[in-house]
Amino acid sequence: MRNRMRACVILALGLGAGLAGCGDGAPREVVPRLGRALPPAHDIDPLGAPAPDDAFFGRAAALYERQCAPCHGASGEGDGPAAHLLHPKPRNLVKARFRFVSTWEGAPTDDDLYRVISRGIPGSAMPAWSWLPERDRWALVHFVKGLAKKPIRVAAGDPGPPGDVGKGVLAPPPEPADDAASRHRGAKLFQENCKPCHGERGRGDGPQASSMKDEEGLPIRPRNLGTGVFKSDPRPEHLFRRVVLGIPGTPMPMTPTFKGGDGWHLVHYVRSLSSDRLRERAELSRRRLAVVPVDPLPDHPDSGGWRAIAGTELHLMPLWWRHDRPELVTVQAASDGRSLGLLLVWADDSHDARIVRSQDFRDAAAVQIAPAGDDPPFFAMGERNRSVEIWMWKSERQADLSRFQDLESEYPNIGIDSYPNLQHKPHEQPVRSAFTPESDRAFITAWGAGNVVVDPTRSSAAEDLMAKGFGTLRARADQLVAARGVHASGSYRVMFTRALQAAGRVELSRGAIVPVAFAIWNGDAGDRAGQKSVTIWHELDLAAMGRAP
Ligand code: HEC
Ligand code: HEC
Repeated sequence: MRNRMRACVILALGLGAGLAGCGDGAPREVVPRLGRALPPAHDIDPLGAPAPDDAFFGRAAALYERQCAPCHGASGEGDGPAAHLLHPKPRNLVKARFRFVSTWEGAPTDDDLYRVISRGIPGSAMPAWSWLPERDRWALVHFVKGLAKKPIRVAAGDPGPPGDVGKGVLAPPPEPADDAASRHRGAKLFQENCKPCHGERGRGDGPQASSMKDEEGLPIRPRNLGTGVFKSDPRPEHLFRRVVLGIPGTPMPMTPTFKGGDGWHLVHYVRSLSSDRLRERAELSRRRLAVVPVDPLPDHPDSGGWRAIAGTELHLMPLWWRHDRPELVTVQAASDGRSLGLLLVWADDSHDARIVRSQDFRDAAAVQIAPAGDDPPFFAMGERNRSVEIWMWKSERQADLSRFQDLESEYPNIGIDSYPNLQHKPHEQPVRSAFTPESDRAFITAWGAGNVVVDPTRSSAAEDLMAKGFGTLRARADQLVAARGVHASGSYRVMFTRALQAAGRVELSRGAIVPVAFAIWNGDAGDRAGQKSVTIWHELDLAAMGRAP
């Protein structure tokens, strides 16, 4: 009954009304009752008591609708409007088969849910919510539990007989020293137990790796344990539970015989395959990018002026997970007091800058910013009534600036009809070119209608766009953003600039902290539109600009 009522609250919020059809007779009015004050986080028993009150719950429902429903769906079934773009898929919170749990039964403790919500799930599109106040994250824990079809109960702890399953939370025995002997024993156990899936050296390439499915029948791969990407906390105690309890709903098995010392040896071996630096890099923590005062602002991505400015490495999450992903984008920010300059650097071996054929996809980068404040709009394309500004650089636009690429660049001998060019005499009409800067706009209807995407006379590789939710991306009438990119030695360097003050735009005023996020497309891997790698919201810190020369 309680679950049913919770689902109704979402429905009510979704409709913006106080009435909700609850499926059990007449619509019932949902009036948030302001009861007892919200208990501070540490007063909430990690194992589930006391029950939260309505105010706590109403706040969580609103948060869920804004920040979680786009992926997890309004009723929690994992079917939000963004879900089709994601692999792995958002969890079905109604089925509530959780994966990163500390109990033998596979039930998550409140701490498990709090941790996964705060830290996000690196290696998937699940963002980190550590920027939400702790109270809000606890409220979400209870809300998520409330969505579950069957109540989530954690049994009282019982270690069970040696080598066999126990009950409740698995409490690891004391950790032995993480030394060569322990890792050696771990390596041996790994070869005996883990190799078929994770491969001999833990690269995720064992003989069974390519044909695996999860419980929902969706493809899943054993992790490459050398990348430092861990879906749940890689600290030893948590990793111990992962190794012993497995990952419910996936092929990663539970092995109770490891619950003595062997689990620890495996943990030590697994951790030796990556490093603190790699693990730290994969954390989805929010970073602050200081805007450094400079004079003059570098005018080219290769300009020496960038050398003095420190870059910040930001973790990228491919929305459609794959092994050959761009892992990081390094961002530098500078201002001369009039304009903001952002330099994005990321690795990409192939330079894909032609999209003439339908099977070609380009490399690209985008910056997203939102008005200053601690409550930014939804991180993926903003929300209704809360728009975001998007600046996009496209490699083929950059290439077009040196030489406009049309069908002839791909198929030099193509002979096709041409559009008449009113500025030229009949015998001067082009015979092969379908679409050139001299073409008549009247015959290129999208261009004639002012669509910046098809304008062959465009003078910048940038598009100045805005969005307020999925499917709302559109170009601005006034294009105020400039961008320039170069590809060399396996990496891209792309620079964006925009005036700090521009009418109707996010204000980049001195002292402000502006939410900023980034996206990278790798054309070679088929990235386009919603298939891309993104960061969570970070912060652009315009405080240092006060010292601008
Ligand atoms: C951009 C999409 C996206 C958003 C937004 C999102 N999630 Fe997720 N979430 C995912 C994906 C994808 C997974 C599954 C990842 C996996 O299995 O590797 C997931 C998994 C989860 C899990 C399951 C953890 C487990 O142990 O199995 C919980 C709980 C969860 N999300 C809660 C939330 C909450 C609460 C919010 C809002 C504050 C939220 N998510 C917002 C995509 C999202
Ligand atoms: C039957 C195949 C299989 C076997 C055997 C297996 N794993 Fe896994 N393992 C997986 C899969 C699949 C995943 C990825 C699950 C996911 O992405 O949600 C995984 C993930 C992991 C992770 C990542 C956990 C995280 O937080 O992201 C670790 C660590 C791990 N396995 C260790 C081991 C160790 C140690 C062994 C041997 C004792 C082992 N696995 C045996 C299939 C297997």
